[in-house]
This record gives sequence, structure tokens and C-alpha cells, in this order.
Amino acid sequence: MLHKVEMDESKPKSQKATRPRKRVMKSNSKSSQKPNIKSGLPPVIEFEVVKSNLEQITADLIVVFASKKSESKSDKDKASKKKSGSKEGAVNKTSSKVVFEGVSKALALKLAASAEDGAITGAAAESVLFRDANLSGARHILSVGIGDAKNLDGEALRQAAATTFAAVKSAKVKNIAIAMDSLPHTSLAADIVMQSITEGLSLSAYSYYEYKTGKQEVALESVQIVSSHKVKGFDKGIETGAVISECVNFSRWLGDRPGNRMTPTILAEETVKAAKGTKLKVTVWDRSKIKAEKMGSFLSVSLGSEQEPKFIVMEYNGAAASKKPVCFVGKGLTFDSGGISIKPSAGMEEMKYDMCGGANVIGTMLAIAKLKLKINVIGLVPATENMPGPNANKPGDIVIARNGKTIEVNNTDAEGRLILNDALVYACEQEPAAIFDAATLTGAMVVALGNIHTGFFTRNDKLAEKVNAAAAETGELVWRMPLTDFHGKDMKGTYADLSNISSAKGAGSATAAAFLENFVDKDIPWAHFDIAGTGWHNGDRFPYNPRKGASGAMIRTFIQLAQAF
Ligand code: BES
Ligand code: ZN
Ligand code: ZN
Repeated sequence: MLHKVEMDESKPKSQKATRPRKRVMKSNSKSSQKPNIKSGLPPVIEFEVVKSNLEQITADLIVVFASKKSESKSDKDKASKKKSGSKEGAVNKTSSKVVFEGVSKALALKLAASAEDGAITGAAAESVLFRDANLSGARHILSVGIGDAKNLDGEALRQAAATTFAAVKSAKVKNIAIAMDSLPHTSLAADIVMQSITEGLSLSAYSYYEYKTGKQEVALESVQIVSSHKVKGFDKGIETGAVISECVNFSRWLGDRPGNRMTPTILAEETVKAAKGTKLKVTVWDRSKIKAEKMGSFLSVSLGSEQEPKFIVMEYNGAAASKKPVCFVGKGLTFDSGGISIKPSAGMEEMKYDMCGGANVIGTMLAIAKLKLKINVIGLVPATENMPGPNANKPGDIVIARNGKTIEVNNTDAEGRLILNDALVYACEQEPAAIFDAATLTGAMVVALGNIHTGFFTRNDKLAEKVNAAAAETGELVWRMPLTDFHGKDMKGTYADLSNISSAKGAGSATAAAFLENFVDKDIPWAHFDIAGTGWHNGDRFPYNPRKGASGAMIRTFIQLAQAF
């Protein structure tokens, strides 16, 4: 049953989560896209692939990558071979420690002089701006370090693009060209190179300003990807990177919106809207349906709130019906006050982010649908508030989950597991190839891994390998955590089958995972991702993420994982 959700009248009218993307692939085309300032989402950066020499293009600024000189003999040999094979006019200029590839002699000399001074080292995160250099058809030149060419991977490029964005923004420049010939030779596929650069720029463009009055400045409008020869894969990389970034930014926006403007009802409504025009089917269950479906645990968490809970079901079938789906489940606590076991006031406002797992599952599903991947996936988001209203769960209450297991609610603040469990039971009923859940589940996760790694839990070694491989591809940092029978024992109840909190001290993230394990069939591969530390405020670690705000953690990895079955 598709439940019709009410409109949020306070929402800016111009919000368009799924506005059509115009991307020009030929030169000399002008953008007609107007920045959508009040959408809460960044204006779409327009990418254009241009086959040209650097001297022939027109841009406000040209980005040239500087890499650190490889010291090994084999690298020197490679460099000299490449030099001898390089096209006429291009220079592979080697200064004391820095390499500038594929740029004109004049530009190389200018950059090399700064390298001699030690101002350009080629180190990652380095940017050096030459204002009004008026070289190679551009007013300004920006040198961006990418580190040692030997270690060049997608994440290094994503971060270099983030460095580029920051420098371009502070230089007040809106139209740039990236000199792709300046990138050192790499074994990375061309589409991955371009996807990473697109993501680094487009993810950096996001900030949450929807409720700030006044004019919002648009930092970067257009990017020319300049290469002296046509490179197969550039267009595809831009397309993939742009779709993924758009969906990550949409998830961030869902997360950044405050609790009063991102209720379960609004979350469901925005998901329905965002899926329009795609093959993603969204069904929303209301309170009575959730009750009728015997999700007693999930329902119990919602009882302390005036806001109606929603169970958001997303289905995408890009493959034959015979192919088992991969199922994603996300915690959608639109505000977690702790309930009767109320949280301390300091920092409680951050609990608007307690739906980031859900938002990221929504982002994952949207991206898969927009990329038209040939896979089957299901996304499930139980969404509710956790409030201390008169009907709220009380410590000691016993609730019954969809699989019949009984649970003592000994702490109403351990509510995430009480909504995920019913969703996991439903996920198992779909007979999936694998289940992945994402949740801002425990404060203990933040203590263990900070805002750097997302901790994941699975007993399945093969699945853990798949997770590690997927994360390595996308540059997201994950760390496998223990999940053992010890943790399972700690979650036994006194008066019911289970308690929602551990009877032992410590290992709070592992015992939470062990609780969830009771709701997953043993023969279905399952991994739980605790994004409590990485779900928001980790831009100090990853320069394309907001310093303050939702990150979209695990969306990129989940998209990758969905394709691994
Ligand atoms: N949403 C919180 C977990 C959380 C806390 C995420 C801080 C990010 C930052 C969760 O619902 C919660 O409150 N968990 C409790 C569980 C405890 C009562 C067993 C916690 O971690 O303190
Ligand atoms: Zn809580
Ligand atoms: Zn919570």
C-alpha cells in the first residue's frame, strides 16, 4: 500500500531532489542550468570533455596536477620512455623533486621555478595558485599536488579534486579547466580516474544552507576536462561520478535537515519524490500497517512521539526476477531524544542525524536506480522519532518482534536495535543474497574508531572480504569488529528472550550487533555497519565531506557491494 504523505508547507518551493541533469559533452556549448539556490542541494557542476591542447582552451583557471618525483630506477626508466614518446610541444619537466607532465614549456618553466623554491612539492592536499599568470589560455593557474605518482588511486584523485574545489572557491573562480595530460601515467582505468575527480568536486560542492537567509554564493559552475587525445571512459566516469555525488548530496540533505523538518512522514515523502522518473518503486507503510505486520518492537519505539512512524520499502529490479536481491536496511531515527531514558541536553541536537543510516540506504537505492545497474536490490528504512511521550516505552517494558522473539526494553535509548530488528526480519523474508544494514547505533563506536573508520560486524569471512574489497574500491574506510558468542550471551533477557542492553560492561557496539543477529537467518550473509562516528562531521578527515554535517557514509561502498553478488 502506498501511503500518501502530507506536504511540508514550510519547505522551500524550489526543492527539486531529482532535477534533470544537463551535462554537455561537446565544446562550445553553453550551460542553461540556473543554480537552484534554495534547494538545499548544491547546483549541478557542469562537466565538459574537451579534446584540445591546453593553449587552445578558454577558462578562468587551469588546474595542473603536480606529483612527487618517483625515486626508484625503474620509475626513472619509465619516465624517460614516456618522455621520448610524448607528443611534440609537450614537456615532461622534472625539477628537483616534482614532476609536471604534459604541459607547455612556458607553463612547465613557471611551475618548475616554484618547485625549485620548495613552494610546490607535489604533496597531497597542496595547492598553489598563480593569479593572472595568463598562460595556456587561462587567467589563473592552479597547481594541485597528488602525492607520489606510484600511489595514485581513486581516493587520492577524489581528495585532490576536493583540494581543487577549496582553492577555486577561495579564488572566486567559477569556470575551470583541468589539464588531464598533467596526470602521471597510471594503471587506473580512465572511467575511475574521471569518476573520482567528478566525485571529489561534486561532493565538495555540498553545504547545508537551506534555512540561512540571504544570497548563497555558487562556488564552481563548470569544469572542462581537457585532454590532447580522446580518452575512452571519461564520459562514463563523469556520468557515474555525477549520479553518485547527486545521491550522496541528497542523503546529506536528508540528514542535515532538523528533526522538525525531517520527520518520518517527510522522509518518506522526499523518498517518493526523489524516486519519480526512475525504476525505483517506493512503498510506505503507516502506523496501522506496521502494527498489522506485527512489527511490535519498531512500533513500540514510535509510541512516545506524536509523529507517525513510517516503514519505507524501496525495490529496484534491474536484473531477471530469478536473481536474488541484495537487501539494505537503514536506521531512520529522525530524532533520538533517548525517550524515557532521556539523553543529556549537551549535544542532543546532533540526534537529528540518527536517521543517517536510513538516509544513506535511500541514497544507495536512488543511485543504483539512476545508474540503471543490472541488479536487484531492496532498501528498507524503519523511520520514527524516539520521544518520552505518555505512551513511550518504559524501562522494563517487554515488546514482541516480528519473528516472535520477546525483548525487555531496559534502556529506551537503545532504540535503534528495536527498529532495525523488525526490518531485518522482513529483509530475511525477501530471501536476499545478502543483507547490509547501516545505523548510527552506538556511542561506543565513536569511542572505538572515532570519525575515521566505519566499524562493520559479520561472522561471515567471505562477506567481510567482499566488504573490504568494495570499500577499497570506493576509498571509504571500514574496520572489521568482533562479533562472537560472548557478545550474544550478554544480550539475554531476565524476563524475556532478550534484553536491549548488555548485562556486561564494555563492547557496546559488538553487543548491539549481537542483539541484531537474533533477527537474521543464519544462512543469509549479513553485515552490520555502525556509522555512529562517520555518519556526520568527518570533513576534517575526508576533504570532500562537510566539516559540519552529514557525510553520506557507506553509500559509495554499498553501491559497489550491491554489484558483488
Ligand atoms: N543514536 C544513539 C547512538 C549514538 C550516540 C550515535 C552518539 C552517535 C553518537 C543510540 O540510539 C544510543 O543512544 N545508543 C546508546 C545505547 C546504550 C543505551 C546501550 C548509547 O550508545 O549510549
Ligand atoms: Zn538512542
Ligand atoms: Zn539512536
